[in-house]
Order: sequence, then structure tokens, then C-alpha cells
Amino acid sequence: MAETQTAGAEVRSADPEQFKLRLRRYDPESGEAPYWDEHTIELEPHRSVLEAILQARDRFDGSIGIRCSCRQAICGSCGVRVNGEPALACHTHLDAALEGARDGVIEIEPMGNMPVLKDLIVDMDAVHWKKIQRVTPWLIAKQPVPEREYIVPRESMIDVTQTMACIQCGACVSDCLAMEVDPGFIGPAALAKSYRFVGDPRDDQHEERLLDLSEDPEGIFDCTHCFKCVEACPKDVNPMGQIMRLRRIATNDFHIVDKNNGERHEAAFTGLIKDNGLLWEAELLPRSYGGNSWFGKFAPPAGKELLSSLPAILKGLIRGKVSPMKALKPHRIPKNDLKQVQSIYDKVESREKRYELNLYIVGEDEQVLESPSATSDPVAVGVTAEPGGKEPDADPGAEPTDTPAEQRSTTEGEGK
Ligand code: SF4
Ligand code: SF4
Ligand code: FES
Repeated sequence: MAETQTAGAEVRSADPEQFKLRLRRYDPESGEAPYWDEHTIELEPHRSVLEAILQARDRFDGSIGIRCSCRQAICGSCGVRVNGEPALACHTHLDAALEGARDGVIEIEPMGNMPVLKDLIVDMDAVHWKKIQRVTPWLIAKQPVPEREYIVPRESMIDVTQTMACIQCGACVSDCLAMEVDPGFIGPAALAKSYRFVGDPRDDQHEERLLDLSEDPEGIFDCTHCFKCVEACPKDVNPMGQIMRLRRIATNDFHIVDKNNGERHEAAFTGLIKDNGLLWEAELLPRSYGGNSWFGKFAPPAGKELLSSLPAILKGLIRGKVSPMKALKPHRIPKNDLKQVQSIYDKVESREKRYELNLYIVGEDEQVLESPSATSDPVAVGVTAEPGGKEPDADPGAEPTDTPAEQRSTTEGEGK
């Protein structure tokens, strides 16, 4: 039996094996309903799901629709759902896909939240690219433009590197729960793209961009914090993290109080946890409208919102999910535990600068490698955020890594 050795020294069989594929087929132009199509292919287990689909197309049915180009997880064109989870077909090994298969058959469907053009091909123009265009996806340069190049701190470019790694595959869009409910939501990929410019010190429109994204009812405050996009992304872009950064800069640094109540809602949320250690839902709504105090419940817009929420509240009461006594009483944790929660708030709030930890860039620093006492621990790069969205300083606690000249990074090229 032939064998291959992988980077992790794991030995895998290199002999071809049979794999069953179940493909979702749909041609909107045919007028027929979608259906499932099964094929058995033969390939080595370390080969990709994309290769399996292409083999099925070549051997059994030339009409199977699939989009691909690079076959190396670079171009972002082969996004699909494998066993219900978003994935790049060229970046998913057959043996791994089989492990996730419910009944021994690898199930492949088109991505979600986008209309199907044919079989596994979705219309990315209609959703994904339209939303990318929405966030002004280019740098609006500070004036006057320097004669040669902009010189920016190295740390600030590291800060946006994570969003620059996006290959525009749409996997995050496919799984976004907020987009499922509100297709108009700008969405994880476009908002991550927006952070790429809000975090770039060469861009001149940070405040305008943030104001626009905060005031849009389908902007940064429409995200429900569900983590789906974080799990879906094959490039670790962490779109939800970028959205939370946009929110923090908009509210803490530019003090934007949006008409969608996003800023107040967040303040009410964190205020209630600080006061009680637990979220108290009945108090969340009035405080979101009337401010972080007991009197908030008398704010007229809170009453209006409460009225519109009555059907949902009644449903909860009828089904026994909430009881008036439990809902109206503050939910509290024991005193000692609450003190610990509050000490976290005190520590974070007493900092002069907000600390943003970028865990994306890991690896071994050149100087660490040169040092005889070097350890092989990964290096995480942290940046502190200056109020006003100004260029961030280097992490004061971080080890010096470069000579002063090398600490400057000159950048002319744009990320994808
Ligand atoms: S965290 Fe926000 S952007 Fe990401 S999938 Fe969930 S709702 Fe969408
Ligand atoms: S953020 Fe990640 S999942 Fe979303 S489009 Fe970019 S690479 Fe794909
Ligand atoms: S074919 Fe390019 S990412 Fe899969």
C-alpha cells in the first residue's frame, strides 16, 4: 500500500478509495425543483472535495455546475457547503469530509444567503459584491499625497493585515444568521473590508465611514454576535471581531450615538452585567432607550418598543418560557462573584488606552530566532487604540523587535 507523510508526520494511505458524493442540483432556468444527485468517485483520501466534484463531472455528468480556478485556497471561487458547513471545496480533504458525513455520503450544496445560478454556483454579484461596493472599498487618501510614499507605523499595518487576508470567498456571508433574517444587512465580509480602511492610518475618512455604518439600520449594529462567520472563514479573518472593532471605534473614540440605538443598547447591556453580573432582559429594553438608569423605563420610545414587543412577550408567557415574577426581578449572582465581575470592569475602565489584541499574526520573530535564549513561543501582536482613531502606538508591554528604521513600514499596494 502506498503511503504519504504529511507535515504533522501523520501517515496516510495514498491508494485511491471510493467516496460517495451527494450533490445538490438545481437549474433555475429549467423550471424544475432542486434535487439530489449521487455519484461514486475514486481518489486518494488526501485529495480535495473539488477534485472529487470535477471527477464526477468528467466521468458521469458534464452538466454539473461548479466554479473554481486556483485550486489552492487563494482565489475564493469554489465556496460550497460540505455536510452543511461552509467550506472551500479545494481546501477540504476527502477523508476529513467523510468524517463529517452523516451517513457515509459526502453532501455538497451551494452556499447559502445567495441565489443559485446553477447547481453549486451562486450569484455572488447579487449579494456579496454588491455589499462590498456598499462600504467604499478603496482608500481615500489623506491630503496632500506625499511625493514618494506614506510612511506608517509597522503596528498599524499589522493591525489591518487580518482583514487583508480575505479572499472574498463568501463563506461568512453564506452562514451569517443576521443576513438570513435581514438580507439587507451589510454582512460580515463587507464590514471586515470596511475595517481594513478604518484601521488604516492613510485613510482620511474614518469618522465618515463609521458614521455611515452606524446610522445604517443594516450596518454594524445589525450583527447579532453569533460567531458563525468566525467559524466559516477559511482565512481566519474573524469578521465578527472586525465588526466589534468598528463598533468600539465608532462609540468609544468618535462618540457616535446612532439613531438605531445600537450605542445605547450596548451601554445598557454592559451596564446591567456590571450591576448584576447577569443580563436582566426585562430591564434591557427600557435602558436601551432611556439610558443606563432605573428611570430609563419611563422613556417614551421604550414604551413604544415595548408595545410592539407585546406579541412576543405574550407568546413567551403562554408557552411558559418566562414568568412575570422571574422576568421582573433582577437576575443576580452571589455577592462575591459579582465583586469579581466588577473588578474586571474596573481594570478595563481604568486603562488610559483601549488594548486591542491581534492574535492573527503569530510566528517567530526574527530577533527572537537570533537570540540564544530564544523560545519557540508564538508572537502575538497587540496594539493599543488611540482615541479619535489615530494611529495606534506599539504595545508598550511588547518586546522590541526591530531597529527604529525597520519599525516603519511603507505600503503602496492594496490588499484584495
Ligand atoms: S457574527 Fe454577525 S456578521 Fe458574523 S455571522 Fe453572526 S450575525 Fe453575521
Ligand atoms: S472574511 Fe473569510 S469567509 Fe468571509 S469572504 Fe473573506 S475569506 Fe471568505
Ligand atoms: S479554486 Fe480557488 S479557492 Fe478553491
